[in-house]
Amino acid sequence: MDNLFNKTRLWAINFLLKLAKDLTPSKPKSHITRESKNLFQKEIKIPVFVSFLFTIIAVYGMLVMSVGVCSKVMFAVLIFMIVVVIFLVSQIKNKERDILEDNDTVVLICLLFIIAILTFQISKEYLSPFVSPVSAFSIMAAMLLSSRLGRVYAICLSFYTTFLNDIRFDVFFTMLGSAIFVVANVHTIRKRSDFINIGVKIVIVNSILLMMFYLIGAYDSFQLKRNLFYGVLNGIFSVIILLVLMPLLEKIFSRTTNIKLIELSDFNNPLLKRLMLEASGTYHHSIMTADIAEHVANSVGENSLLARVGSYYHDIGKLKNSMYFIENQIPGYNPHDNLNPEMSRLILISHVKEGIVLAKKHNIDSEIVNIIKQHHGTSVMHAFYHKALESELYMNMECFRYPGPKPSTKIAAIIMLADSCEAACRSIEEPTMAGIKGMVEKIINNKFIDGQFSVCPVTLKDLELMRDSITSTIIGIYHARIEYK
Ligand SMILES: [Fe+2]
Ligand SMILES: [Fe+2]
Repeated sequence: MDNLFNKTRLWAINFLLKLAKDLTPSKPKSHITRESKNLFQKEIKIPVFVSFLFTIIAVYGMLVMSVGVCSKVMFAVLIFMIVVVIFLVSQIKNKERDILEDNDTVVLICLLFIIAILTFQISKEYLSPFVSPVSAFSIMAAMLLSSRLGRVYAICLSFYTTFLNDIRFDVFFTMLGSAIFVVANVHTIRKRSDFINIGVKIVIVNSILLMMFYLIGAYDSFQLKRNLFYGVLNGIFSVIILLVLMPLLEKIFSRTTNIKLIELSDFNNPLLKRLMLEASGTYHHSIMTADIAEHVANSVGENSLLARVGSYYHDIGKLKNSMYFIENQIPGYNPHDNLNPEMSRLILISHVKEGIVLAKKHNIDSEIVNIIKQHHGTSVMHAFYHKALESELYMNMECFRYPGPKPSTKIAAIIMLADSCEAACRSIEEPTMAGIKGMVEKIINNKFIDGQFSVCPVTLKDLELMRDSITSTIIGIYHARIEYK
């Protein structure tokens, strides 16, 4: 008896400790950072355990209510739920482990599931299973989470809608077919109006698959016409859901989708417009950096659009005191000549801080803000450090470092290198292929030795690919100058 009591006590203590640990919001280790950018002005801190438990109970309840409240059905739904949850969790745990450590993302995964199942119930109740917007929710998962999770959603949601509709194979096949097809085309979505193309694709795939079922004798002509009508409605509903829900979820969960990046890359954006008018040298440097960073991102399989847009904004802090930055100076006049190195150091550091303030003020996404923050890492301002040494001012080299932080993502590292290499190669008076190659190599080696990549997942192989890509892009940019010199 005592033994049983002790075992129960130990179990209860362990359970409470585990619950306390789960309820303590942990700092996300994922590279996806959320900083006071979502609708609630802070990260959503619902523990992973609570989010999953709530979703499982909610979806189970909805399924039982829809399929029928009796012990056999409840048991069948339970088996079905266990299979789907095991599939979903194994997919996330094996390939997207980071997600499980990010409370925000888990809430998004669960919320998408609950809303999807709700819309399926409504479609089944009032219209037809063929109206269930499986494709719309799979596309949202692909855009807000990852393409792989988009495919996992397509499979799970197709199973759900089939289970809700008497395990009909035609429903499963049609829903899965259109969802997988549109998720495979997710990279073609670059602006909100592209959702209409997605709707058209859903209608086409639905129609082809329904025709196939008609040809094999599963439907008569009346059923075919009715199902085709619902297949078209599915496309229309999907477009409406995407247009309404996507911007909301992007805002709430602070997600930087390709659509948002395209919107940010518009040169009519007030910040880019100001950069063009008030600091044209920096504007030109940012465009060059963007060209280089985009190529480099492509060569290492990173998001090239994020690299381009991040580069556009990386130096917006130079809008303040623009004349103190070399690219904006009139030849023959450098205001730093009249300043001591300590003042120059403070002005240079301020462009990073000013950039962060400006970006936040203009509601620029947190991923771009992080790029601004990290684009110099903790690098040394060599020019002013040497000036301090020459003027015999006692100053430690550590005082001439940017405050950081160091790049934490590959994209931030790419922009750091593209930025430094672009500025350094522009200063070469007579650029030659060997000169550019040597300069790029020197910059990458120095940054590596200085430990600038110590907290980011960049491998030596990546650095090699980056070096080749930066060199070839800069040689391409200076091609005319190289050839005619
Ligand atoms: Fe900068
Ligand atoms: Fe720069």
